Formats: sequence, C-alpha cells, structure tokens
Amino acid sequence: MAPIALSHTEVHSAPATKTIKLKGSTDDDPSGVAHNTLPGPLKYGGSLEKYPHFEVTPSIGREFGSDLQLSQLLKAPNADDLIRDLAVLISRRGVCFFRAQDLSQDEMMQLQKKISALAGQPKHSDMCIHPVSENTGEMGAKTQLISAEMQRKGGGIMRLHDDVSRWATRAYHSDVSFEKVPSDYSMLKINVLPPSGGDTQWVNCYDILDKMSPSMLEYFKGLKAEHNANFFHQEAANHGRTISKTMVRGNPLNVGDDLSARHPLIRTNPVTGWNALYYSYGFGGRIQGVTYDEHVMLREYLTQLCMNNFDCSVRFRWEAGSVAIWDNRSTLHSATFDYAEERRGDRASSIGELPYLSSSATTKSEGLQAEGVKW
Ligand SMILES: [Fe+2]
Repeated sequence: MAPIALSHTEVHSAPATKTIKLKGSTDDDPSGVAHNTLPGPLKYGGSLEKYPHFEVTPSIGREFGSDLQLSQLLKAPNADDLIRDLAVLISRRGVCFFRAQDLSQDEMMQLQKKISALAGQPKHSDMCIHPVSENTGEMGAKTQLISAEMQRKGGGIMRLHDDVSRWATRAYHSDVSFEKVPSDYSMLKINVLPPSGGDTQWVNCYDILDKMSPSMLEYFKGLKAEHNANFFHQEAANHGRTISKTMVRGNPLNVGDDLSARHPLIRTNPVTGWNALYYSYGFGGRIQGVTYDEHVMLREYLTQLCMNNFDCSVRFRWEAGSVAIWDNRSTLHSATFDYAEERRGDRASSIGELPYLSSSATTKSEGLQAEGVKW
C-alpha cells in the first residue's frame, strides 16, 4: 500500500449577524477584504430537482446522473438561478456528485467562479493558488493537477507522511485551511482511474455537532484552532523550490510564507446559516487558549468524532468523467491511497471568506427542524 498522503489544493460576521468574541483570536480583517457578502442564508429554489438524483446517505452527499451536465448549466438562460441553487445544494448536502460529465477545464474554472460568487464570495477573493503548486493543469496556477504519477516523482500538491501515523483517516482535511482566508468550495474531476481504489471520503461536520452535548458545544464555540502547513517549506526545499513571500494566494490576506492560521473551532456557513466543526486534523490542529495536555485530549476527542462516526460520512467511487463539488467550510475529505496505478484529474478551488462564528447561527438539525424539511 502506498504511504499515506495528504492532498491540498484549504472574525467577521455576515452583515445581519453578530459575532462571538473568541479566545485566541489573531485573525483580523479591518479593511473588510474577506467578508462574505450575503445578507443572510440562501433558500434553495428547487430548480435542480427535475434531474434524476438520490441522496447518497441521509447525512451527506447527493448524486446526479448524466442527465445533468454541469456544462449546460453554464449555458442556460437562467444560469445564475441554477448555479445559485447548485451552491445552496452543495452547502446543505456537503458534497454533490455528477456522473459522466463533459465539463472542460475552462468550464470547470467558470463554474467554480460562479458558484463562489453567487454564494457571497468576498469581492477581493479569487481562485485558490496553492503555495507549492508548480505543476498545474492547462489553466495555469489556478487549477491544480492531481496525479499519482507526479506524486511518486515528488511533485505536485501532495505531502508524503514519512514519519507519522499510517492511519488512513489522518489525512482528513479541509482544503487550504492553513490560509487566513481558506477555501469555500472545491471541485474535482477525475479523468484517469486505477482499476480499483482511489475512492474519496467526506465527513459532514455539521452533523458531527449533534454527537456533542450542548455544554461541550458551547465550550468549543469559544475556542480557535491553528491550521499549520509550514511543513510545505521542507517539502518545497526537497524539490529545490521556495515558498513565495509576495505571491497573493486568492485574497490579499493570503500572502507571505507563514502557512498557518487560527480559525474558530465552530464555524458558521453563511450559505446555510448552520454551524459546523472546523478542525483540519491534517494541518496540526493545535487548539488555542488551553494547555498542551488539554489540547492533546481535546484533539483526540475531535479526531475520534470525525473518524468514528461513519453515519456522518460518505465514500465515493469515481468513474472516468465523474465530478465532485464540496463545501470546505462544513466538510472534511480524504482520498484513499490504496492504489499503485495512475489516478489523474483536475481540481479547481475558490477562496471564500474569513471564517467566523455567528451567534444567530444554528446547528443543521435545529435549522432543518425549523424549516420542516429532511435535508
Ligand atoms: Fe483536499
């Protein structure tokens, strides 16, 4: 089996909400370059219900067949309505899957930009640029080529874990969460597959909150965690590269060579108005404002929450032409590194808002109950 690898591409308030003062807060955005622009959560208009689909698990994931071609949504006269609904659907279901897609790289980029923009992307945010991504797809630095062959040669945006846990679940992460302003959505299209293996798994971090007692959840609402990817300096050095100190990576706040950020442990998704656990174990996860010993215990608890609750997860078996689009604010994901053959695809990620916790947000289950719907 191949060594475990980690793939990467990812306090303010939405205008109508109030923020909670967080312990350990260091992120600041006085100029407002990273504020989500939605006035409040978005309603799903139902425009995608006409396409055949099913909910992959009750908790997370919806799958569409080839009747829905993402390329056609872009060309539709009501493209904005359809793609806004798509963004809402992705944010509510965590991840959506689309089989047998003809979407080109250029269309992937267009669609990713539209999804993010219609979901309130700050006007200063753009597509994600990975700090060590040198090998890119045809679209340049704003898409990333995912390639097992490139990984074996020591390139790309994957990190080989040579002296850490071999637990497959240790690679769970949210894309570029080490950035001050991390990713809102990511899209992956797989074009070349091994005969077996290479599935991707996602964890629904909304539903994880229902596994906690209310008092524990309240405690976590006051905490932040560090997301640290400074290991990329060594990774880059191994290949004769350096991390740029001046390149802006998708938002003016994402600049410099310190690849770390402190984000609220419980984060509000502006599209749904629901809170989720935002804990990217793959990026270290040092919990702020507590002793190291307390951090170790809390980290273990949070990690077990995500790893053990398979009722809050989904595993997707790719086919050539499959596309997945997910919300990085409310899910974790990991590839399964159980194959030796080539697995290749293109990924497009966008940068969203500075993570925040709104005091008017609810859990997903509270939100669904108030709406009277199942998902
Ligand atoms: Fe990733």
